[in-house]
Amino acid sequence: MSIERTFGIVKPDAVGKSAIGAVIALIEKSGLRIVALRHTQLSDAQAEGFYAVHKARPFFKDLVAFMTSGPCVLMALEGENAISRYRELMGATDSKKAVAGTIRAAYGTDIERNAVHGSDGPDSARIELGFFFTGCDLLGSA
Ligand code: CMP
Repeated sequence: MSIERTFGIVKPDAVGKSAIGAVIALIEKSGLRIVALRHTQLSDAQAEGFYAVHKARPFFKDLVAFMTSGPCVLMALEGENAISRYRELMGATDSKKAVAGTIRAAYGTDIERNAVHGSDGPDSARIELGFFFTGCDLLGSA
């Protein structure tokens, strides 16, 4: 067991459903601690940069268009094994395959409109947290 930090996004589809509070409630109920939170509108450059690893994928253009289609909420989450725990709470990437009780089952629609993002491992967590937050944004880091 180790205390980890991970990066999460409440995506524009969930924000559009007025589900910010519900998603955050599930995260807090799971025992993860929110150590940074920002409600923002991503620019094309931010979305393209954040998802650069998917640049060659056929869905990249649509993904960027979706992620810039409305505001989203950026989060830094902390807790024991936070990375895997948050991924479990999110559910399968394809919301249609997400099991009941997960965020994507409740608020996602399909593989693109899947309500939330979460880092898939320690390296991406570090890179993604650093992409949107500086050290002094994160509680307990300053
Ligand atoms: P996310 O966890 O934010 O990481 C990358 C995103 O790309 C993923 O959620 C999906 O929203 C999207 N994605 C992954 N695979 C596909 C796909 N086959 N078609 C459309 N979007 C996809």
